[in-house]
Amino acid sequence: MNFEFSEEQLAIRDTIRELVQERVAPRAAEIDEKAEYPADIQRLFAENGILAIPFPEAYGGISGSSVTICMGIEEIARACASSSLILAVHALGAYAVLFAGSEEQKKRICPPLASGNRLAAYALSEPGSGSDAAAMKTRARRLGDEYVISGTKQFITHGSIAETLVVFAQTDPEAGHRGIGAFVLEREQSPWQVAKIEHKLGIRGSPTAQLVFEEVRVPARNRLGGDGQGFKIALAVLDRSRPGIGAQALGIAQGAFDYALAYTRERQQFGQAIASFQGIQWMFADMATQIAAARQLVYLAATKVDQKAPDLTRVAAMAKLFASDMAMKVTTDCVQMLGGYGYIQDYPVERMMRDAKITQIYEGTNQIQKVVIARSLLR
Ligand code: CAA
Repeated sequence: MNFEFSEEQLAIRDTIRELVQERVAPRAAEIDEKAEYPADIQRLFAENGILAIPFPEAYGGISGSSVTICMGIEEIARACASSSLILAVHALGAYAVLFAGSEEQKKRICPPLASGNRLAAYALSEPGSGSDAAAMKTRARRLGDEYVISGTKQFITHGSIAETLVVFAQTDPEAGHRGIGAFVLEREQSPWQVAKIEHKLGIRGSPTAQLVFEEVRVPARNRLGGDGQGFKIALAVLDRSRPGIGAQALGIAQGAFDYALAYTRERQQFGQAIASFQGIQWMFADMATQIAAARQLVYLAATKVDQKAPDLTRVAAMAKLFASDMAMKVTTDCVQMLGGYGYIQDYPVERMMRDAKITQIYEGTNQIQKVVIARSLLR
């Protein structure tokens, strides 16, 4: 399969690269240290059209292409993984509406998201249901023209700051995964409560929330897809979003690699730059090869999403699996390259190593990616 970036995609990437290096990179260490959501960077992304990337022009956006979303996420993650989630999770929420929404829903819900006036998020996991997503307990009861949602969602990235939240809930517990609905909650109309913000190892500038829904009323017109189609929508959305986590992992790895390469050219030991030692050179050769391989897989998966290829589920899972394992290995090796300096917060690679870890866990653990890949092979 051939895939090439268009002139327009390259122009978007270059614009983001410049903006990120100028405005995001200098903030990255502070965002991590203070564990504070960078609302200023969200505004910067909104003003520069970055939050419009997940949406086609017909719905107020500028692209809608998974390849372009991945290019944006990769560029941002090279400097700041927390900030890259502003685009990645916005796209995750957007995918649900774009994939499963009616024309009326897309026209109504997407433009305020594309303008960056509202941020989207996606609420699937629960305290007792992570990998086994179909075991959710959150209930949605139909009451006339509304649904009433009750339950608790766990580990919801941006659940505390998003204004638009896609929530999955059981409408018919007897029907198992065929009794789950997908609902778009708009905070003003259907307010949810933030019970807890987690303290995390990495991506510390991206709030991860436990959300509580106490009889939250949602208009029936905000249900995505048909009755009982919510679980399939949830999985189909993850298929489309997982290349973005691969792109995030790729960006984190590239950022750490670039830093370590420059560092080892300068760092003198035994009277020479440590980059002159073969032990270091072979590590760089391995890392560059792994990064290049991951990049091919991530953009192949994103291309398959854009082309609605029949094997997109498998390739998206492969991209997320490979790129996140690669990022963990590369960032760990970059810390090693810097020795004691790699282990302290004055240098960015320890942050990048901490940030890389989550890419092996969220949007489905890598063990779940292997289940998805194997099932698609054996079907
Ligand atoms: N797309 C659409 N439908 C799909 C599908 C897909 N990729 N995969 C399966 N289905 C359908 C099946 O056809 C089946 O439908 P029928 O019964 O009508 O035929 C139905 O879904 C159930 O399929 P399975 O029996 O395979 O489902 P399962 O219960 O065994 O679970 C799973 C499958 C792959 C393990 C799934 O539960 C899963 O992906 N778990 C991981 C969840 C996850 O990724 N969570 C991440 C949370 S979001 C997040 O992390 C975001 C963030 O913070 C940034």
